[in-house]
Amino acid sequence: MSRRERSRTARGRDAFNAYYTELYGDDWAAITRAFAAEPIYESLTDGLLKPYHLDVSSAAAARCVPLPAGARVLDLCAAPGGKCLVLATRIDVDGSIVANEYSAGRRARLHRVLDEHLPKELRERIRISAHDGRKWGLFEKDAYDVVVADVPCSSERHVYNSEKHLAEWSPNRPITLARQAGAFLAAALDACKPGGHVLYCTCALSTDENDGVIERAARRRVFVPLPPGILAGRSTKYGELVRPDLSGGAGPLFIALLKKPTPSEA
Ligand SMILES: C[S@@+](CC[C@H](N)C(=O)[O-])C[C@H]1O[C@@H](n2cnc3c(N)ncnc32)[C@H](O)[C@@H]1O
Repeated sequence: MSRRERSRTARGRDAFNAYYTELYGDDWAAITRAFAAEPIYESLTDGLLKPYHLDVSSAAAARCVPLPAGARVLDLCAAPGGKCLVLATRIDVDGSIVANEYSAGRRARLHRVLDEHLPKELRERIRISAHDGRKWGLFEKDAYDVVVADVPCSSERHVYNSEKHLAEWSPNRPITLARQAGAFLAAALDACKPGGHVLYCTCALSTDENDGVIERAARRRVFVPLPPGILAGRSTKYGELVRPDLSGGAGPLFIALLKKPTPSEA
């Protein structure tokens, strides 16, 4: 049965396991065992008013992107704000961040996280906005030194640990999310200045949402994939994947660091 035919009929735990066994073979059992264990959190403290806990690979992703002096940063999908906090502690006094979040509920959480953790002088350099990140590139092009697209994704770890989400899962989910992720990545590349960097992340294991999204973007836009250099990350065609079964429990996180060339580099 083809993937398309399966997507019309299959649903639930068995379909989920069949889909990921096809992608990961025997490793899928080890991955699901790792899903059941506690994730590995890092406690961010440097430069913050109080500690913030996030997956170690998420913190590493927000550290791998180069930030020039006076960096203008756009975080397209910012809530709850973990990567934004790391970036806020990395920009210099002339740097600024636009932290965008479409969902009103999650935007309220983003406000809370930034207000409670950042000292005033850092908090003042962050503006929170409420746009559809997929359309950003239509309105502001070539404007930011760094654009972070940490997109909504399959979050298999979360699905696997939730009976409700597992029962609702179908192979349409990664297909739909990959299509949406492509729109976020295109917007990020368009909003990024030539010479700047796009950090594309998912917490998905579905290859369609990871290398697949980058592969499709490469047909229409010019960029150079750089090695993110994440500890415990395994190289893929365009980025690195942190798998919980191979990292002692961190992730999943796919990270791609893309440089948008200047006209003379293109
Ligand atoms: C993976 S989470 C981001 C996590 C965040 N970067 C962090 O490190 O804490 C993806 C976020 O994208 C938001 N989102 C979903 N659709 C969006 C859209 N069209 N535009 C902007 N944000 C969106 C979701 O509400 C969610 O908060």
